[in-house]
Amino acid sequence: MQACGLDFGTSNTAAALPDGTVLPIAPDTAEPRLFRSVLFFPEDERTTYAGAPAITRYLEDNAGRFIQSVKSFLHSRSFRATQVHGRTWTIEELVAVLLRRVREAAGAQTGAPPEAVILGRPAVFSPEPEADALAEQRLRKAAELAGFTHIQFLIEPIAAALAYEAQLSREELVLVADFGAGTTDLTLMRLGPSRRGRPDRKADVVGSTGVRIGGDRFDAELMRHKLLPRFGAGTTYRVRGLSDKRLPVPQHVMAKLLSWHEMSFIREKSTQELLQLMLESSDKPETAEALYDLVMENLGYRLFRTIEATKVQLSREEEATLDFEEARISLHERITRAEFESFCQPLLTELEQCTQGLLERCAGAGEIDAVFLTGGSSQIPAVRKLYVDRFGEARVRTADAFTSVAEGLGRACVSLVSPDLINS
Ligand SMILES: Nc1ncnc2c1ncn2[C@@H]1O[C@H](COP(=O)(O)OP(=O)(O)OP(=O)(O)O)[C@@H](O)[C@H]1O
Ligand SMILES: [Mg+2]
Repeated sequence: MQACGLDFGTSNTAAALPDGTVLPIAPDTAEPRLFRSVLFFPEDERTTYAGAPAITRYLEDNAGRFIQSVKSFLHSRSFRATQVHGRTWTIEELVAVLLRRVREAAGAQTGAPPEAVILGRPAVFSPEPEADALAEQRLRKAAELAGFTHIQFLIEPIAAALAYEAQLSREELVLVADFGAGTTDLTLMRLGPSRRGRPDRKADVVGSTGVRIGGDRFDAELMRHKLLPRFGAGTTYRVRGLSDKRLPVPQHVMAKLLSWHEMSFIREKSTQELLQLMLESSDKPETAEALYDLVMENLGYRLFRTIEATKVQLSREEEATLDFEEARISLHERITRAEFESFCQPLLTELEQCTQGLLERCAGAGEIDAVFLTGGSSQIPAVRKLYVDRFGEARVRTADAFTSVAEGLGRACVSLVSPDLINS
């Protein structure tokens, strides 16, 4: 029986073998080892697209249902299922489509789809124990639907720690921090050559914690502070029947614009009428036109791709321009890194407090030898700086930000799955 490690991420999914090899499960793409965790159901076709082809197909013609960040909904009791072109899809079924595609792509590399899997899960899906258990239960069900028959879970930062440990030649107490798209996970763990490969590593984990802050929230802050006024924040419109009464654009509409997948929910009829009213009576008509087109022409995903690209550029450069021209939306916004960091200050403070809390709880563990940063959002300079300021540059380490978790999950197959399950 074949086994693999599988890191089902909010934005990227990766799979690895027990020897740590991260598999090229997205062949013919710029990043073959990263399978984008997205689905697209076109209106005029029965095919379900997953991964990079879903993005390509959606950008060709966005008539249809595009689903992203589905992992972020796993803990939510209120999100049980969704209607897609008249069929009900449970959240488990949606996740299963992604996991099945990844399993098949892994099988194409190794000869047969793996049946045993060690699946990553955040340290904390939700601070509420019932919601956390629900998320894991749904992920397990999705893995079963995808064809896996032996399923075990491992906390993502522990998996990243195992990847880091593979190249260690001495014992270290390591703080591992994984900054993804949906969550940040932290683990303090004892690592080293003598511990490597032990069947049970629970005793080596000094402490773990997590918080629902990831790249998606950083994108939302850019939207909130830089772009919302261009879509009507702070403007007013006239209420029908009360000719001189003007009201501010409702907060709940603006709040939905902070993440593009929420945006589709404001296309319902009552809000459509509101958008129409704003179009007729806004004190800043160009913002009402931009808002109308953003929502009604389903441009949210495109806009958030641009926001994300600007954020990524600000990790490399001190300044960037966000350019977006679609329908009646015309954005050309200069933004500096310092400005972006000021927008994100509340998130950075929360990350710092979360780290501080873990360190206080683990105070007796001794001196931390190294801090291993991973996950795409660890590339935000202000995030890295939190750790460099606290621990010094020399103790802060990084490797491949996007594949460490998968590599560690793969390596964990050796110690966690009983040997007869592994194809050696
Ligand atoms: N250079 C960069 N600078 C800042 N952010 C980046 C950079 N590159 C990628 N990101 C962000 O990293 C995130 C994706 O990282 P990653 O693949 O580690 O997340 P994930 O594993 O899918 O999410 P999670 O672990 O939370 O489920 C996205 O939010 C993306 O915008
Ligand atoms: Mg991740």
